[in-house]
Amino acid sequence: MNKKEQSLSIIKPDGVSRKLIGQVVKRLEENSINIIAMKMIHMSIKEAQGFYAVHKKRPFFNSLTDFMSSGPAVVMVLEGEDVIAKYRKLMGATNYKEAAEGTIRKDFATDIEKNVVHGSDSLESAAFEIGYFFNSFEING
Ligand code: CMP
Repeated sequence: MNKKEQSLSIIKPDGVSRKLIGQVVKRLEENSINIIAMKMIHMSIKEAQGFYAVHKKRPFFNSLTDFMSSGPAVVMVLEGEDVIAKYRKLMGATNYKEAAEGTIRKDFATDIEKNVVHGSDSLESAAFEIGYFFNSFEING
């Protein structure tokens, strides 16, 4: 049964510097995904480390958190029926080389790390990730 969910979306520093904000937002809107909060941020290294704490034992953790704090990013709260799975399908696989045709990462990513977008992978991570960047007054659900 379908249910209304929320997901965090990040347009990562590579997506912002390559002027892909519009392309990503267009794909969300064309797929009837509601954007109920949105802002541009520039994470400190500590903020990036906190956000990706689940990956702190991974070999790519330092590189990933350096990259995510290297420039501005756009964070959004998405809302809709099954939006977590729907947005993950739109993004494509983490590794752009394995991403399906027509997905954001297949079309725009240049690297497994610089993969343009992030999306929550579960209801639990969505709750943590949304709360990491937004307070309730900023979300127009
Ligand atoms: P994201 O969906 O934001 O979740 C964790 C991020 O770590 C991922 O996208 C990539 O940016 C990065 N990542 C995942 N796997 C690797 C890897 N093998 N090498 C480098 N970066 C990775």
